[in-house]
Amino acid sequence: MARRKKIYEGKAKTLFEGPEPGTIVQYFKDDATAFNAEKRDVIEGKGVLNNMLSEFFMTGLSNIGVPNHFIRRLNMREQLVRACEIIPLEVIVRNFAAGSLSKRLGIEEGTPLPRPIIEYCYKDDKLGDPLVAEEHIAAFGWASQQDMDDIVSLALRVNDFMSGVLYGVGIKLVDFKIEIGRVYEGDFQRLIVADEISPDSCRLWDMETGQKLDKDVFRRDLGSLTDAYSEVAKRLGVMPKGATPMKPTLIN
Ligand code: TMP
Repeated sequence: MARRKKIYEGKAKTLFEGPEPGTIVQYFKDDATAFNAEKRDVIEGKGVLNNMLSEFFMTGLSNIGVPNHFIRRLNMREQLVRACEIIPLEVIVRNFAAGSLSKRLGIEEGTPLPRPIIEYCYKDDKLGDPLVAEEHIAAFGWASQQDMDDIVSLALRVNDFMSGVLYGVGIKLVDFKIEIGRVYEGDFQRLIVADEISPDSCRLWDMETGQKLDKDVFRRDLGSLTDAYSEVAKRLGVMPKGATPMKPTLIN
């Protein structure tokens, strides 16, 4: 069998050329990093959980008409996705203060925000993904004004969908990060949600206890990351009770 071509290796995922033109195989690794990879570890089972959770969220988004890159899951660690040109921005949506917002503005973590706040970071590991303003995005040509309108609309639709789905299983969506890709269709181009949506890129708090069920468990040394992600997966019905991410039982 011919060895497939690696296109890109990131901190948590590797991308390979897909079987048909315009497709990519996205492989979820077990590697966990934080603070621009200053802290790193390998957490057995994380890749499997994120693959399945991202499938769950992206499929749900497709079902309500929010365009995204997901085509289908291939196996426990891989999914087939649509190739796109990633806009070099991390789009962050916040419903409650936490993390860098709390630090920057001195707002206590957990404080409800008056409205969802969207922030942008420039995707550049060497610079540590700095926060940027729309002025920078326009001036440096990373996205047009039309793109920005579309990005805000996508981000808010993802926020409403995710907040609702997670609320239904007793989880508060504090904030999250998405990435946006550009696809070309004939003479037209449009923007789609790309990358992944998983507890690596969200803050998820248990509604009752406030327990953290996301990557802050790793960033802040709060216990077992796979236990936290498995809890999210079990509540969403992505993995039945009793299954483990190392030996998952699929329910579809
Ligand atoms: P922050 O509070 O550290 O800026 O993070 C905001 C959200 O973005 C949070 O849900 C975690 C997510 N995030 C990523 O997905 N990747 C990153 O590199 C960082 C720093 C945050």
